[in-house]
Parts: sequence; structure tokens; C-alpha cells
Amino acid sequence: MHKHASLLFSLVGIFVFLHGIDGAWREEPGSLILGCGLNEGGAEDIDGRQWSPDNKFLVPDNGSIMSKAAYQEPSLSSLVPYMTARIFTSETTYKFNIQRDKRYWLRLHFYPSLYGSFSPSDSYFSVAANGITLLSNFSAYITCEALSLAYIDREYSLAPLNSDTLTLTFKPSDKQKGAFAFVNGIQLIPIPELFDSAALVGYVEQKVEVKSMSLQTMFRLNVGGQYVSPAQDSGLSRMWYDDTPYLYGASTGVTNKATKDVRINYQTMPQYIAPETVYSTSRSMGNDKNANIAYNLTWIFQVDPNSMYLVRLHFCEYYYSKVNEIVFNILINNQTAEPQADVIGWTGGKGVPTYKDYVIYVQDGEGDEKLWLALQPAPETKPEFYDAILNGVEIFKLNDTDLSGPNPQPSDMLLEDQAEERGFQAHEGYNRKAVIGGAAGGAAGFAFMAAICITVFNKKKRVPGSSTNTSWLPIYGNSHTNASKSTSGKSIASANLAAMAQGLCRYFSLQEIKQATKSFDESLVIGVGGFGKVYKGVIDDGTLVAVKRSNPQSEQGVNEFQTEIEMLSKLRHKHLVSLIGFCEEDDEMCLVYDYMDLGTFREHLYKGIKPLNILTWKQRLEICIGAARGLHYLHTGAKYTIIHRDVKTTNILLDNNWNAKVSDFGLSKTGPEMNAGHVSTVVKGSFGYLDPEYFRRQQLTEKSDVYSFGVVLFEALCARPVLNTNLPKEQVSLAEWALLCNQKGTIEDIIDPHIKETIKPESLKKFVDTAEKCLSDHGTDRPSMNDLLWNLEFALNLQENKDGSTHSSAQVDENEFEEINLGDNMANHYKNLSLGSQHDLSQDSDSDSSESPTKIFKELVNSKGR
Ligand SMILES: *[C@@H]1O[C@H](CO)[C@@H](O)[C@H](O)[C@H]1NC(C)=O
Ligand SMILES: *[C@@H]1O[C@H](CO)[C@@H](O)[C@H](O)[C@H]1NC(C)=O
Ligand SMILES: *[C@@H]1O[C@H](CO)[C@@H](O)[C@H](O)[C@H]1NC(C)=O
Ligand SMILES: *[C@@H]1O[C@H](CO)[C@@H](O)[C@H](O)[C@H]1NC(C)=O
Ligand SMILES: *[C@@H]1O[C@H](CO)[C@@H](O)[C@H](O)[C@H]1NC(C)=O
Ligand SMILES: *[C@@H]1O[C@H](CO)[C@@H](O)[C@H](O)[C@H]1NC(C)=O
Ligand SMILES: *[C@@H]1O[C@H](CO)[C@@H](O)[C@H](O)[C@H]1NC(C)=O
Ligand SMILES: *[C@@H]1O[C@H](CO)[C@@H](O)[C@H](O)[C@H]1NC(C)=O
Repeated sequence: MHKHASLLFSLVGIFVFLHGIDGAWREEPGSLILGCGLNEGGAEDIDGRQWSPDNKFLVPDNGSIMSKAAYQEPSLSSLVPYMTARIFTSETTYKFNIQRDKRYWLRLHFYPSLYGSFSPSDSYFSVAANGITLLSNFSAYITCEALSLAYIDREYSLAPLNSDTLTLTFKPSDKQKGAFAFVNGIQLIPIPELFDSAALVGYVEQKVEVKSMSLQTMFRLNVGGQYVSPAQDSGLSRMWYDDTPYLYGASTGVTNKATKDVRINYQTMPQYIAPETVYSTSRSMGNDKNANIAYNLTWIFQVDPNSMYLVRLHFCEYYYSKVNEIVFNILINNQTAEPQADVIGWTGGKGVPTYKDYVIYVQDGEGDEKLWLALQPAPETKPEFYDAILNGVEIFKLNDTDLSGPNPQPSDMLLEDQAEERGFQAHEGYNRKAVIGGAAGGAAGFAFMAAICITVFNKKKRVPGSSTNTSWLPIYGNSHTNASKSTSGKSIASANLAAMAQGLCRYFSLQEIKQATKSFDESLVIGVGGFGKVYKGVIDDGTLVAVKRSNPQSEQGVNEFQTEIEMLSKLRHKHLVSLIGFCEEDDEMCLVYDYMDLGTFREHLYKGIKPLNILTWKQRLEICIGAARGLHYLHTGAKYTIIHRDVKTTNILLDNNWNAKVSDFGLSKTGPEMNAGHVSTVVKGSFGYLDPEYFRRQQLTEKSDVYSFGVVLFEALCARPVLNTNLPKEQVSLAEWALLCNQKGTIEDIIDPHIKETIKPESLKKFVDTAEKCLSDHGTDRPSMNDLLWNLEFALNLQENKDGSTHSSAQVDENEFEEINLGDNMANHYKNLSLGSQHDLSQDSDSDSSESPTKIFKELVNSKGR
């Protein structure tokens, strides 16, 4: 099995380390933070952390070469240390002075780029630390390519070496011709001894002395909580991820968060074991304490077989306070690791954290490369409630001589996904290399997904016949089974759709659709997407419609259609495209929309099919404002935040009055209620528009739409494709290029020459400033849709010579939410339908409004199967 899992941890290379009180980096004394190939003096990374040159540790230097990467991937989180490297053409050793009795983090950073004449695909090498093999036959290029990463980081924890020096040896493979080794950054940080002995699961009274062992970090999860950055960690600069991608089955329990009045009381346990953030969130089985007896709360992890793993579980109970209120069994790979666990019994009280270590040997063999962790109530102890709880998990690979594993292979799913990626179809002329090179931003996002998909895919195989609700993860494109088109004629999708769409939009028979589109006549095709084709059609007495037809082969299409129907049937807004109805029959699925006479925003900018009709600056501003209103409604107008996830100029449609309407809700997700945080999800969207923070963290917030919208703004200004691989590297991505030009003060040079002279400088400045803010690296620095609207209105007023300040329409008109655009010719379709616009998700949630928002959200998403 491939090594996806072990790479998971290192997928995201954000290096925000601990800031001292004065804002400077506080490093543990004796830490070495080396930027390999850096010149004398070193350099600071984006967070102000100092990286020192590595040359003085090479003794002797065996002919290594300092080099600079030939190009900078847009998704590099920081130029330092990734843009410089040290290349080794023969075996070369670093020597570091260390403390004999200290445990160390060793973190290695690799960015497989072109270095002078060294092509990353030729690089195969091994790395050893005092004789412990960390990597062998390692190809950073293959690894990154397989996971679509721009760069990878690895974390090892080296046991006290009982030596004053650490030798770190890079050795090019002698099996591959011309192989070389390289490294971009090395961190060597002394840490407290984190480990002791741990019980060996499956053996009575057997202990493994982990204290003396070296480890590789495989997974580190904040169960029931959010991503924790190195700076938020309790002193050891670790990253903790959300656990949802690893949950197995439909019963994923509920998440809990300690209330403000609960203080996490570490007592004698050192705080560095795990930060408060980890202990103050948890996952438990659910509120129905009698139903809980019937299931196990389960997580699955992909690991390398034939290895030992340390599983560290973190617990902290902050709701119950008595012994025997909750007692559960902990199973690892179906063996009891801990019978009758009682967290209060261990800790003695509320808010007191603790952790337990277990070692498990994962054997080689079919299906054995997974590590299962399950919690089940222990009825035999007659606890008060049937429930179980977990706050955090860490999984480390253990071995004293060899921690290496094979290079991963790109999964079929990943390849397929890349091929199918919307907005990036083959017919647009991009090759796969361009995906990796020119749009590594987007590509990096899928890395996480590739790894996750393995888990989820396997999950799906194990749960026959429930393909629409096995997981709340968007299992986009990873399962092309036939399951949803079931044998009974009436599909699962259809059953769902019927219920969802009941009374909300019209059902068309296939016959009607065929009539409308002249049996899907090719001459009526007005658009093509990853999902299939869009036809122009005529229904009833001449009403023009757009018919989106799902590609019958694509289950992804089915899911997107469902999402779109759910979203659109609940939302009505002047600046959102209107769904008239749908059809599902004989494996055909179609959505029927109001026809938008003037097509997409993009084709008026530069696809050039209407060259005589250059949009004026004012028109562009008005279109942007309209689209912003639509998005603002999505983010704040409905009961739940809705994140569009695929904002781009081809998804902004224009009616015959140039009114902008946001379309294509196939990827949209409902978020938790406002201010409740983010949605953790597989990264989806279109290359060139993808929020870099979203793919770094896989955490979706409405600010990801704001980022994409910022790209749209620059597209409106510059009238060029967001990705153009024919241009020099730094210009390929519009977002990057526009930001760079703006920094250099040359933004004027890239404005659409057709309108350049007509834009008032004040309007331009306001607009560009706004767009730039949208592209801020961190979501928190980006404006809300409301601020954005206000600024765009302001830019419009400046253009029209008003002073702008008195304008009030940026205050979004409440009425607009209810303003249903019943174009004359559409009214008949709605005659029979209940048009109360408050259908937004309320029927799902009102009935159990006592539940926590998280729970409701989870159930909502669960029921959608996306
Ligand atoms: C230098 O490279 C040669 C050839 O690969 C190797 O035999 C030798 O051990 C290396 N020296 C050191 C100090 O690494
Ligand atoms: C829970 O896990 C145990 C051990 O793997 C298994 O025997 C049992 O069938 C599981 N229960 C359910 C409901 O899946
Ligand atoms: C360490 O790795 C080697 C090589 O993969 C393997 O043979 C050995 O069994 C491993 N040891 C442990 C304790 O997992
Ligand atoms: C553990 O049990 C589950 C069913 O509960 C099964 O699907 C899985 O293969 C088992 N795993 C191992 C490692 O035996
Ligand atoms: C090294 O890795 C490559 C790519 O994964 C593989 O094709 C090759 O067989 C490996 N070579 C050895 C000697 O293991
Ligand atoms: C899946 O959804 C169907 C209804 O759509 C429901 O009957 C079934 O119990 C669900 N399955 C699981 C595993 O939740
Ligand atoms: C789907 O199932 C139908 C009937 O069961 C079969 O004819 C068809 O080949 C299947 N399609 C795919 C893509 O497997
Ligand atoms: C409206 O309802 C009537 C009677 O229920 C039905 O005959 C008619 O077809 C419906 N119209 C539409 C547009 O669905």
C-alpha cells in the first residue's frame, strides 16, 4: 500500500512558529533552523523567523551545490526556506552538536523544483540520522506529484542518541542514473521527553519502551475541533488537524466544546503534552444515550504495514464529573486496548486532561494497512450513560533503525479528479504539468484530498447500498460506482430529490425535456462543463430555458445536481440564478433554469464572441456589485451561511438587462451558523480562483468566496484569463501577477486597454485596493461581502463623480432577499408552488432547535451525501 497516510501530516507547510512577547521568534535554546543553500547572514521567512545558512555544518563538504529554485509555485507559503536548496551529487553529511540526553524534533523540508540543470524528477536519495534510516529511495518529486503538493515537510522525533553529534547523511541513490539529493530546510529542535512506556495491544502486561525509540509523526488530530497552528500549540510548534476526514461510517457522533467557565486544569501534567485547544473540544457518541449502545465511534487511518505504531489518545471530560457516568472500551484494530475506560476515574474531575499511550503492531497482509480506532460503551459496568469521548489523537510510526517507506503512487482517483476538475477541462488546453506547475495552488489542495479519498473510498466499499449518506465529506469524484442508479428504477437520488423538491420546483418528464431541446440537439449546446452539457431550450409557450444535462457516467454529476437543487430550491434572490425545475428519468438528470440572454460575464470580458460590445468600466462595476450582492445573500441572508465554493466569471451570468446572477451551486456547502467557524472539507473549486488558505488548511469559510471574488475583480479590470500558461511564469496566475504589479506600482500596465483611459484614478484606486484586500493571504484580513459591496459602490460613485460617502445602498436592502425574480414568462411555473422564501433549511432545523448548531449542521450535511 502506498504511503499516503504518512504523508498526510506533512501535507501542509505553514510555518508559523512561536512568537515571543516582543514579536520575535522564541526558539528553544540549542535549536537549529537552517535554510539550506542560503548565503551568509541567512534570511527571514514570511513570519519573521530567522533561518541560518547551513554551510558550516557540512564537514567536509563533499562537493555540494547551492542553488535557487527556477520558479516559485504560487502555493509556497514562504520563499524561505523553499526557494533555496542544497544539492548533493555524492554522499554528504551534516554534523550537528547535540545534547546527549535530549529528544529532538527533526523536520525536513523539500521543494522539488528545477535547480539549475538539476531536474527534480532525477532526484532519488536516502537520508539517515546517526544510522537511523529516515528516507530511502525517496523522490520528493514523485511524492509531491502523487499528492499534488508543491512541497512537503516531514517530522521525526529522535530519541536521545547518547552522542554529542548528530550526523545527517544525504545519499543519492546508486540505483538510478544521475540521481542527486537535495534539501531546502532543516529544523533540529530539542524537546522534552514526551514518551514513556506504553502497553502493547493484544498482549497482556506487555510494555514497549517508547522512551528509547525514534518516531515519525503520521497523524495529529484535534478531535472534534479545528486546525491548531504551530503558533497555537503549547510550545512544541506542532500542527493539529481536524479529525472528521478519518471518521468511519455514518454515525460520527457529536462534537462538544468546553464552555467558558470550564478551566482546563493540567495539574501535574506538563502543558506541552497538548494545548488547551485540543482538550477543550471533543467528540462523543450522541445525545441518545440508549441508541449509543448499538454502534462504535470509529476512526480509520492509512498506515504502512509491518510496522509498530504508537497511538496516543488525549482525554478531558468537562461535562460529567462522577465516576461510572460514562465508561467505554477502546479498541485498536479490533483488539481491546483499554477495557472500561472512565475518564473521570483517571483524572479525578472535570476539566482535568490526561492521555493514554498504546502500541499496536500493524501486520502485512491484505487490508491490514489500516489502523482502526473504535470506542464503544461498556454496558457490563452498568454506567449511567452509554457514551464515549475523545479529545485528541496522535499516531507515530516507531522504529529504531528504519522509518522509511515507499514512494506513493498517484491514485487513480486523484488523476481522474485532476482530469475532471471543473474549469480545467482538457479542452481548455492545459496539460497535467500545467496543473502542477502553473496552478500548484489548486493542485496542492488536492493533496489532502487524495489521502482522504483513500479512506473514504474504502469506507464506501464497505457500506453497500448507502452511497448517498455514508459520509458527510464531499466525496466528490472519488467513487464512480453505479450505486446511485439503482436497479429498482426509482433511484436513491430521485427519492431524495422528490422529497427535497416537493412543492419547490417543477418536475419535468424526460419527454418534455427532449421536446424542449430537440432531443438534446448539438446545435443548441450553449456550454460545456465537467458535469455535462448545457442546452438552450424552449418550454411551454416559448419560454426560453437553459437545460443542464448530467453526464450519465458521472456520479459526481448526481451529487452536484442534488446540491444544486437543494440550494436553489431554498434560495430566491435577484442576483442568484433561478431554478425552474428538474428532470430525472432513465439515468438522465437535467436541471432547468431561467435562460440568461447575455451569457457569462467572462465572454464579455475576453472570450471575444461579442467584440463590438466592450463593457464599460461602469458596466463592469455594476456587474461586480450585482454578483457581490448575490454572494452576500448566500453568506448572510439565509439561516445558514452558504459558501458557493466556485466563484468565477463563468458562473456569473447576465440577463438581458445586464443584471448579474450567480449560478452553479453544485459545489456549494452550507456552513454552520454565522460566526461559528469554518467547514472542514476537501478542497474544491476552480484553478486560478482557489483560496490559498483554504487549500493549506482544508477549512472552508465564506472568506474563500471573497478570495475568488477578488480574482474576479482583477479579471474584470484586466480582461485576461486567470491562468494563462503561455505567459512567463510570474504572469501565469492573474491573482499573483496583479498583486505583484500593484506592489510595484505598475498595475496600470495590465488594465484592459479598451477601458484604461476611461477609468477615473480614484475609482481605480478604490477598486484595486479592494480587490487586493480580497486576495489577502489570511481569510481574517479579507473584507466581508458586506464591506466589499460598500467599497465597490464607493468605487462606482467615484467613477460617476459623486463623493460616494452619502451612498447608502451598500446597506443591503432587506427586501431584496425576498425579491423573487419572477420574470413574466416564469410566473406560470410557480403558480402551483409554495413560494414562501423562508424555505431556507428551516424545515430541517426548526423541529429540533434545541440541538446544538453543530449537530444540526452535521445532520444536514449528512442527509445530503456530499
Ligand atoms: C564523499 O563522497 C564519496 C563518493 O560518494 C563517498 O565515498 C564519501 O564517503 C563521501 N564523504 C563523506 C565525508 O561523506
Ligand atoms: C464494534 O467493534 C467491535 C470490535 O471490533 C465489533 O465486534 C462490534 O461488532 C462493533 N459493533 C458495531 C455495532 O459495529
Ligand atoms: C523496523 O523496520 C524494519 C525495516 O522495515 C523492520 O524489518 C522491523 O521489523 C521494524 N521494527 C519494528 C520494531 O517495527
Ligand atoms: C475490524 O472490524 C471491522 C468491522 O467492525 C472490519 O471491517 C475490519 O476489517 C477489522 N479490522 C481489522 C484490522 O481486523
Ligand atoms: C525507487 O522508487 C521508484 C519510484 O517509486 C521505484 O519505481 C523504484 O523501483 C524504487 N527503487 C528501488 C530500488 O526501490
Ligand atoms: C441513509 O439514508 C436512508 C434514507 O435516505 C436511511 O433510510 C438510511 O438509514 C441511511 N443510512 C445510514 C447508514 O445512515
Ligand atoms: C451501471 O449499471 C448498469 C446496469 O446495472 C450497467 O449496464 C452499466 O454498464 C453500469 N455502468 C457502469 C459505468 O458501470
Ligand atoms: C398546477 O396544478 C394543476 C392541478 O393540481 C395541474 O393540473 C397543473 O399541471 C399544475 N401546473 C404546473 C405548472 O405544475
